Amino acid sequence: MRIEGLRLYLRDTRLSDLEQRRHWELIDTEWKAWDAPWEYEGLSKEALVLESERYLERLKRRLERSLGLADTGFRVGFEIVLKQKDRPIGWVNCYEITDRFEWTPGINAMGTAVGLVIPAVSDRAKGYGAEALLAYIDYFRTIGYRELYTQTWSGNRAMVCLAERLGFEVIERRRNSLLVRGARYDGLTYRLEL
Ligand SMILES: CC(C)(COP(=O)(O)OP(=O)(O)OC[C@H]1O[C@@H](n2cnc3c(N)ncnc32)[C@H](O)[C@@H]1OP(=O)(O)O)[C@@H](O)C(=O)NCCC(=O)NCCS
Repeated sequence: MRIEGLRLYLRDTRLSDLEQRRHWELIDTEWKAWDAPWEYEGLSKEALVLESERYLERLKRRLERSLGLADTGFRVGFEIVLKQKDRPIGWVNCYEITDRFEWTPGINAMGTAVGLVIPAVSDRAKGYGAEALLAYIDYFRTIGYRELYTQTWSGNRAMVCLAERLGFEVIERRRNSLLVRGARYDGLTYRLEL
């Protein structure tokens, strides 16, 4: 499946994307300082590598299961690809949350939270994040969703700006709930009506 944007498009992740994903998981990892960094705090280098390897393995299994998925089948995420040179620059994905805005593997799910990562610093702040998230939101609108959520933390200015620019509104602020690099930040859940 492919979803058109102006300068980029979203498409299904392929097994051939895994090499690039491995690079972003293990080498070009600056983005992890922004995407739920508290999950990595205090972990040794070895534990981080192990965690990344496990994630890549899960992703590979998920891709293998979804090979040949019909266009009507539900997509958890997509690769973000720049039309110029057909270059992948990141991904969008989603997960379920409960009515307490906590991650759930589907049990007591209240809603769907969307997220995205543009790993290379040189690809950021060029409007690609906004374009990709808009295209992803459109995907959910097309398949009948009436609302979406997104979650971040108050220290992630880029994501806060992006969410607010696209019309997401804060529905829960957990003051000083997150410790990142020695400072306390608010955990934020945003909601968007589609
Ligand atoms: C968050 C992220 C996806 C944003 O993508 P992007 O392509 O850099 O964002 P855009 O260029 O579309 O900019 C969107 C808005 O954020 C603002 N912005 C971008 N980078 C910023 C920064 N470092 N500080 C403050 N504002 C920033 C832009 O000015 C723009 O706001 P505007 O339209 O009001 O001018 C990207 O920075 C990223 O992948 N970061 C690392 C991973 C991450 O944090 N993911 C989110 C997890 S919740």
